[in-house]
Amino acid sequence: MMKKNWLLAGMSAVLSVGILAGCGGDEATDQLVSFEIPSEGELGSAIAFPKGSELLEPFNQTLNELIESGKMDDLIIKWFDAEEATEVELPEATETTTTLIMGTSADYPPYESVDLETGEIVGFDIDIAKYITAQLGYDLQIEDMDFNGLIPAMESGRVDFVLAGMTPTEERKENVDFSDIYYEATNLIVSKESTEISSLEDLEGLKVGVQLGSIQEEEADELAEVYGFEVVKLNRIPEIMQELNAGRIDAILMEDTVAEGHLNAQ
Ligand code: ARG
Repeated sequence: MMKKNWLLAGMSAVLSVGILAGCGGDEATDQLVSFEIPSEGELGSAIAFPKGSELLEPFNQTLNELIESGKMDDLIIKWFDAEEATEVELPEATETTTTLIMGTSADYPPYESVDLETGEIVGFDIDIAKYITAQLGYDLQIEDMDFNGLIPAMESGRVDFVLAGMTPTEERKENVDFSDIYYEATNLIVSKESTEISSLEDLEGLKVGVQLGSIQEEEADELAEVYGFEVVKLNRIPEIMQELNAGRIDAILMEDTVAEGHLNAQ
């Protein structure tokens, strides 16, 4: 479906803030490098709903309208390509009576992050949510939480849906329902240049950070058995970046689109 976009600098402006927070002066000279994990499939993102939610169908239909109208491509350019500072017009909701609560984990630019100037949660996923809810005549309220808490929040009915760059997996499908996929990415191993990590074999005996509850965690657990590294699981992406900068972990297994901002932010 959606093509992976390698439009780089897009996220760096937003992301640099998170990383620099944990970055001392001398570390700035030690570049971050990355390599793609061989033979791994693509990671799609989809909208998630509590099991049996009536929102799934209308959301899916509106998501497909967004894609077919070409507006999704505009949003991809807006959020993944910094060179093209595009404004994309989104519909305004009229005569709404119901507010839908969306759960997200706002540590994942360009999908979702907190705009440090306004304190508002912004991103690709947020625009998609605004578009769909406005088209369907709902007001939108966004709840920020740890990624690991999103599925429990749907199961307990605390949120109506989730947009968080979440990949539909067989395991998750046992507990929640997913829309069609709206974007695809791949996983990378990110490390400091000085540690000279360029293959999975190089990770033996080292520490690799991942986000708790993500598919990267699952992937790292599997790879760790083969390549003999330790998996360090943390809640928020900026926290994991900080651990890498401070040298407490040696590498991170993370998504290319999100990593790109960090690679370019130096
Ligand atoms: N795509 C991955 C997953 O579904 C990671 C998503 C992390 N999202 C976030 N907002 N932190 O597990």
